[in-house]
Amino acid sequence: MENLRFNYQSSLPFITQQEIDYLSPYTKIASEALQSGSSPGSDFLGWVKMPFLYDTKEFERVKIAADKIRNQSDILVVVGIGGSYLGAKAAIEFLSHSFYNNLDNEKRNGPAIVFAGINLSPDYLNDLLDLLEGKDFSINVISKSGTTTEPAISFRVLKELTESRYGKVGAKDRIFATTDRQKGALKQLADQEGYETFVVPDDIGGRFSVLTPVGLLPIAVSGANINALINRALDAANTCQKKFDENPALQYATIRNILNRRGKAIEMLVSYEPRCQYIAEWWKQLYGESEGKDGKGIFPASANFTADLHSLGQFLQDGTRNIFETILNITKPKRDFLLGEDVDNLDGLNYLSGKKLSYVNEKAMQGTLEAHLDGGVPNLIIDLEDASEHSLGNLFYFFEYACGVSGNLLGVNPFDQPGVEAYKKNMFRLLGKK
Ligand code: PA5
Repeated sequence: MENLRFNYQSSLPFITQQEIDYLSPYTKIASEALQSGSSPGSDFLGWVKMPFLYDTKEFERVKIAADKIRNQSDILVVVGIGGSYLGAKAAIEFLSHSFYNNLDNEKRNGPAIVFAGINLSPDYLNDLLDLLEGKDFSINVISKSGTTTEPAISFRVLKELTESRYGKVGAKDRIFATTDRQKGALKQLADQEGYETFVVPDDIGGRFSVLTPVGLLPIAVSGANINALINRALDAANTCQKKFDENPALQYATIRNILNRRGKAIEMLVSYEPRCQYIAEWWKQLYGESEGKDGKGIFPASANFTADLHSLGQFLQDGTRNIFETILNITKPKRDFLLGEDVDNLDGLNYLSGKKLSYVNEKAMQGTLEAHLDGGVPNLIIDLEDASEHSLGNLFYFFEYACGVSGNLLGVNPFDQPGVEAYKKNMFRLLGKK
């Protein structure tokens, strides 16, 4: 994990070494439970060893399908929700040009990638249909269960559109299904229609599935190097087996639990790079669904700095003191920007002439960190070397492992999500589903 460093110095004024010494043996036990398969939710631990046991044949098929989609489409529509959506969205936003979908085809060098099945909004669906008018497109429908309402509704509409545009036979070349190996409505439909399918392994839950074809196919379509992603996840999986002092994931899991026991009920994941916005959305699902149960859990929230310093800044500095912050810090931008001199200096900014914008961003981060510490907000820092596939492979596995350990420390089963069913039950009753 050499391109990811975890630093908890800025939480030390709020906790004691004694608390770390007390909790770290339990962290070790939690980690051993993940490694040995004895953790609660042991049927869903496939992701722990997955980087070592990768199905290389399927991996090659993912790359071939991605090339085919890239060659035949102006737009890829990814249909999926929750864990079948957020990982791919997070990776593509993190790795790509900030205006990826808006670039012209030549500059983008790959199809635009849009997402469907993430809501039940008629406006969103109609607008998507407008977008597809006159464009060549492919569909990657992703659902482990194969029965989730939001993607199922969107896919029914998109399947019909694909068939009317390209014919039944043509649609087979344009629809790719990622679902269970054997069961579920989507698997049945895909087999019947002859779509190429990719597997969501039985023992990997949605929110831990980004490094399976669930995430890898759309990520590869964006032109990202999925070999690097998987290789670095493998390095991270090795590091996660090390002892506390050499293991950032164990440290992160431990410190956030100590802070929680100190009354910090909310963790705010913040970043000064907008490309991290959906990493935070993915992280919120990972930690929210894994830990928020049995009346326990740390509420995962996020903010995009510096933008949100102009909205949430006041609360963070001065509001209810039940928050700690975790900064996701990308230490090197893809491209820096040198600030120039203005002869008139009407905006008074010449004191920054000759400075890089990354330097200004860094000072904003340091200034905010100091202010928030003064205001009573403990801070944890995850330093990532850059916004590359190498760093991201590390980061994904780091967060997943720390989440598994942290859920164990909280005394919950991190791998189920019984609470998600409650709204569905009511919705189906109200809709008259038999
Ligand atoms: O993490 C999870 O298990 C969930 O968020 C699921 O990914 C989400 O509900 C979508 O489920 P499915 O892939 O079965 O359509």
